[in-house]
Amino acid sequence: MTQKILVLPGDGIGKEIVAEAIKVIDTLKSDFGLDVEITNGDIGGAAYDAAGHPYPPATQVLAKEADAILLGAVGGYEYEELPRDLRPERGLLGIRADLQLFSNLRPAILNEELADASSLRPEIVAGLDMMIVRELTGGIYFGEPRGIRTLENGERQGYNTLIYKESEIERIAHSAFQIAMKRGKRLCSVDKANVLEVMELWHEVIDRVAKEYPEVEVSHMYVDNASMQLVKDPKQFDVMVTGNMFGDILSDTAAMLTGSIGMLPSASLDANGKGMYEPIHGSAPDIAGKNIANPLATIMSVSMMLRYSLDKAELADKIDAAVEVVLKQGLRTADIYVESEGLKKISTSEMGDAVVAALKG
Ligand code: NAI
Ligand code: MG
Repeated sequence: MTQKILVLPGDGIGKEIVAEAIKVIDTLKSDFGLDVEITNGDIGGAAYDAAGHPYPPATQVLAKEADAILLGAVGGYEYEELPRDLRPERGLLGIRADLQLFSNLRPAILNEELADASSLRPEIVAGLDMMIVRELTGGIYFGEPRGIRTLENGERQGYNTLIYKESEIERIAHSAFQIAMKRGKRLCSVDKANVLEVMELWHEVIDRVAKEYPEVEVSHMYVDNASMQLVKDPKQFDVMVTGNMFGDILSDTAAMLTGSIGMLPSASLDANGKGMYEPIHGSAPDIAGKNIANPLATIMSVSMMLRYSLDKAELADKIDAAVEVVLKQGLRTADIYVESEGLKKISTSEMGDAVVAALKG
């Protein structure tokens, strides 16, 4: 059956990098039998310009109909004066909440060829390939009550609530275990159960769900130690699962171990495996329209889409291998280029073409 992909290029470099990812999808269709239908929609500033809202009703309808969504990036200087609810970034939060994309997958992968892009020593990070699974729609970012209140003595007090229901922990646990099954079958759950009751529950539910995945080796780590271990020896991890706030922080740390924002894809999944796939970077208005942005994070987001939503792991492997080939050939967009023998600086569209050529072999 033909699967439907909704493409939301968004703003800034979003349009440029998504165009290259579409070349890759088209090649998989023409040469490798991928059966998908692509629909285009607006989100972010582009949607505000066209329809007066960053996540307009027409896009909501398309998003619900799609089997998977590919998003570029949103945002731009020209939208900074808009009221908060109409800003491009609201479009992104809107679609995540609307589709209940509670499971956020952020791989941190360092290609051997780019080991010198990291701020850590090459031997610590070369070959790093881990996945952080972050709970995205619960926890302290959404917990009620929240606010700033004035106490009887006139002093103000800010408060937020870190809450998780068992069902919320269960569904992110299943998501993480399923991902671990598709990878190295090791899962580290990160919590702060020594101090927080809600994390005691987290720990207990992870252990309960673990019984359904006997092949997966489970470990638990407190978040402070996890942050240390990520920098000390990141290659010890395969899949890490954690709550919304801890995941926010740890996934940024893990991502930056690899040193190149233009290389990192992400996925946000719902309970049925439907997902939205996007590079972790933003719309990069400083380089938009110059044909110099790195499209590889977006192209690898397509790879994740094939793996996690469309059940086409063999085609995902093909994309990953093609990216590997292109880097081995020494081809680099400006963000990953260093002055060196054998490396060649190329444009956004040349990078897309190079991946297509590598795919075709
Ligand atoms: P950014 O990620 O857009 O850019 C940060 C730096 O990295 C810039 O110097 C940019 O040129 C560079 N960069 C980013 N992606 C690149 C790529 N593919 N190739 C080469 N260089 C790349 O973050 P920034 O500057 O903080 O935000 C710019 C706009 O993007 C803002 O409006 C922000 O709200 C929005 N944003 C959107 C996100 C999304 O759509 N998911 C995520 C982060 C920011
Ligand atoms: Mg993004």
